[in-house]
Amino acid sequence: MADQLTLGLLGGTGPQGRGLALRFALAGHQVLLGSRSEERARSVVAELFERDLPVKGVANPQAAAEAEVVLLTFPFEAQRAVLPGLAEAIGDKVVVDVVNPLGWDELGAVMLDVPEGSAAEQAQVLLPRARVTAAFHHAPPRLLADPDREVDTDVLVVGDDPVARAVVIGLADVIPGCRGIDAGPLRLARYLEGLTAVVVSVNRRYKIHAGVRITRLSEERRLRLAPPAAGEEGS
Ligand SMILES: NC(=O)c1ccc[n+]([C@@H]2O[C@H](COP(=O)([O-])OP(=O)(O)OC[C@H]3O[C@@H](n4cnc5c(N)ncnc54)[C@H](OP(=O)(O)O)[C@@H]3O)[C@@H](O)[C@H]2O)c1
Repeated sequence: MADQLTLGLLGGTGPQGRGLALRFALAGHQVLLGSRSEERARSVVAELFERDLPVKGVANPQAAAEAEVVLLTFPFEAQRAVLPGLAEAIGDKVVVDVVNPLGWDELGAVMLDVPEGSAAEQAQVLLPRARVTAAFHHAPPRLLADPDREVDTDVLVVGDDPVARAVVIGLADVIPGCRGIDAGPLRLARYLEGLTAVVVSVNRRYKIHAGVRITRLSEERRLRLAPPAAGEEGS
């Protein structure tokens, strides 16, 4: 895959999508910020992004069709509503599921029961040909939105296709303060999604925007799973 990618963010108009869009655009990726309403996407882009940044507001189907990598940045309940209609357009592309299926009660955030095991595994069922990964669960939107601050978290990437995982690790690595880490198969997505409830609980108690770090992983070891060079995809 090329160094500069076209990224489509479905439901990109929310805090998480906007924050990721900003960081990816600052790194030189082409960003298609998707929405159910093209008009809304255009107005979010016009309002929040400098004009020289490569971010364009589009309807979700256009983002899905034109992107090389598709990010799911809408709420959990949107997956079932939106993805079946986009499965054809998404085909076998790399998909990054950022969704945390969380509910709230008097004790705080808690992971919802997802029949497929996790939001990401549900996305894989809905997009059978896609190379689904899950990542960016613990990247705080408040920090993503502020280009003057480091995001300061590891980004644990899971997925069943190693090339797709490497592509997503490469996306994490362009965000200052983030390190993409290969965390293995997609079935582990449930633990990353559920861990977000713990991070939210810590955030509420200490009034911070916490990240997550894996210790004792040297750069040399980590970069053994660096993104593939152009032309290596699928090997
Ligand atoms: N916020 C965080 O701290 C954080 C951190 C990591 C991961 N996440 C995950 O990232 C995802 C996005 O978070 P967010 O806070 O940005 O979400 P959000 O603001 O609630 O939603 C993002 C966008 O999704 C679209 N949307 C909402 N309901 C929809 C529906 N029923 N069907 C289709 N599209 C719908 C809306 O865009 P349009 O109206 O323009 O279509 C909305 O602007 C969530 O799954 C969340 O779990 C969030």
